[in-house]
Amino acid sequence: MCGIMGYVGKKNAAPIIYEGLKKLEYRGYDSAGVALLQDGFYTAIKCSGRVEELKKRGALNLSGKIGIGHTRWATHGAPTPENAHPHFYGKFAIVHNGIIENYAELMHECLERGEKFSSSTDSEVIAHLLAFYDCGNFLETVKKTVRRLRGSYALAILCSDFPNEIAVCREKSPLVLGVSEDGVRIASDLPAIASESKTVYVLRDGEFALVGQKKVSFYDQEREIQKEGMTESFASQNFSRGKYEHYMWKEIEEIPTAIDQTLRNFKVNFCFSGLCEVLCQTEYIEIVACGTAYHSGIAAKYVFEKLARVKTNVSVASEFRYADPIISPHTLVIAVSQSGETADTLAAAELAKQRGAYVLAVTNVAHSSLTSIADRVLQTYAGTEIGVAATKSFNAQLSLLFSLALELAKAKGMSPNLTLDGFSLLSRQVILSLNKIQEYAEEISKANHVLFIGRGVDYCCALEGSLKLKEISYLPSEGYPAGELKHGTLALIDEKTPVIAILTRRELAEKTMNALCEVSARGGKIYLFTTLPEYAEREEIYRSFLLPSCEELFSPLLAVIPLQALAYFTALKRGNDPDKPRHLAKSVTVE
Ligand code: F6R
Repeated sequence: MCGIMGYVGKKNAAPIIYEGLKKLEYRGYDSAGVALLQDGFYTAIKCSGRVEELKKRGALNLSGKIGIGHTRWATHGAPTPENAHPHFYGKFAIVHNGIIENYAELMHECLERGEKFSSSTDSEVIAHLLAFYDCGNFLETVKKTVRRLRGSYALAILCSDFPNEIAVCREKSPLVLGVSEDGVRIASDLPAIASESKTVYVLRDGEFALVGQKKVSFYDQEREIQKEGMTESFASQNFSRGKYEHYMWKEIEEIPTAIDQTLRNFKVNFCFSGLCEVLCQTEYIEIVACGTAYHSGIAAKYVFEKLARVKTNVSVASEFRYADPIISPHTLVIAVSQSGETADTLAAAELAKQRGAYVLAVTNVAHSSLTSIADRVLQTYAGTEIGVAATKSFNAQLSLLFSLALELAKAKGMSPNLTLDGFSLLSRQVILSLNKIQEYAEEISKANHVLFIGRGVDYCCALEGSLKLKEISYLPSEGYPAGELKHGTLALIDEKTPVIAILTRRELAEKTMNALCEVSARGGKIYLFTTLPEYAEREEIYRSFLLPSCEELFSPLLAVIPLQALAYFTALKRGNDPDKPRHLAKSVTVE
């Protein structure tokens, strides 16, 4: 949430900051701003709306070789130009990603000193504090200031007394620095700096850096520290949209690769992880995650319990952390997060660790904050996901968690005769048949309310299909266990309510069919997504999408794909940008 960007170097900073912000827009896109420092003076442009607005308002013409920029996802204060970052006070200009929880108390102090505020954000108070604690030493001023902050922050700070340096620091919000021949780039995430950087440094919680044109010096609260940079070729990483109109569709088409890469790497990584012993001793599993990652946890619960008979609970991370959770001995906590930066998931993992659990992180981002909390990390290899609506990362999470379930079963002395081989190929087959989903989307885009139902492992697809539809098409929808409809929700059914049903488990098919007959009898239109051709033909079914037959327990890997496509096409039919849904942003680094 919110993307911050900075540059100091030989080149004009404005175009570099602008291009960086464009690449960070998935983190927030309701307002933006940029400030440059030249000859001791600031020039700045701030606006509501997307980063492109900055260009329209002449931001690329600002001159200066040092500057900071921001693309915002509003937490405190509406998305107005006044609330857009950077915020200024005295000699200081700041951009901030995170939330200052004690801002009201700090602001009160500033107001008592007679200071005036120009915005209604929590962030502006940081600029005021910097001015108050200014001791003539940039680093010390920043350290004194952040000691007063409670909450989360990644900060890039300019001071007109130090015209060649940017000070940065972080606590629970990500920040990376990329050193190149022309200078140093600072950003909330790698895509903004990767193509230009020779060496990349990941700042950790509690660390600071003073960034000059040629040199970056790192510090903790006490002293200067040495940090190891990463020097792999970042330029080769593909962050561009290429021929695709939207990242979301590109990422759906990348699902077969995401599955393939995740399965391949799992085999190697698991071997060297030492997890075999941990799994042998595991008596209870607690999965913590948010949103789409939570839905992958729901699927994993079914599979862990079915294959390995290990009792598993899945918790929304924000609920887990405030529920005073009981961690019994031999509990394995699995924290699942695409970004590895979701504030609630990080806090849940930290709490689980404090209470004695062994914490395994499942994340798509190798150097994310979650990796430094967990005892062990298993990475998904979906590649960078830019579309705000998670797609390929979900399939990658399922691939990894299902592989883990097979290992868990083996560790428990069972020999499940199942394989995930072939799923990458099957997912390709599904993607090739997605065209007909456009017709469904045409109809569904006119509905007022949509229900998704499934039973057993299919339930996770009902939840995920519904979430996708809500978040990018803005259509109210609910994911329900098929058997639960008759306990109340059936009252919503009429001829205008599409019911999306997922049916892949033969042993549960008749039961789910009962629910569908009840829907059909009340005029509901059923769109069936099934691996079982005989059910696709039933007269109660309005439209059917046949999925390739596959190992039933792992079917969500395939069944979710047409539902992702359905959300995508419905969003387009309703005139929405699927990559940038309203009010949302990727990587929820605030609580
Ligand atoms: C939905 C979506 C979100 C994320 C959730 C967790 O399409 O993307 O629900 O799944 O914010 O994010 P991660 O997995 O990064 O922790």
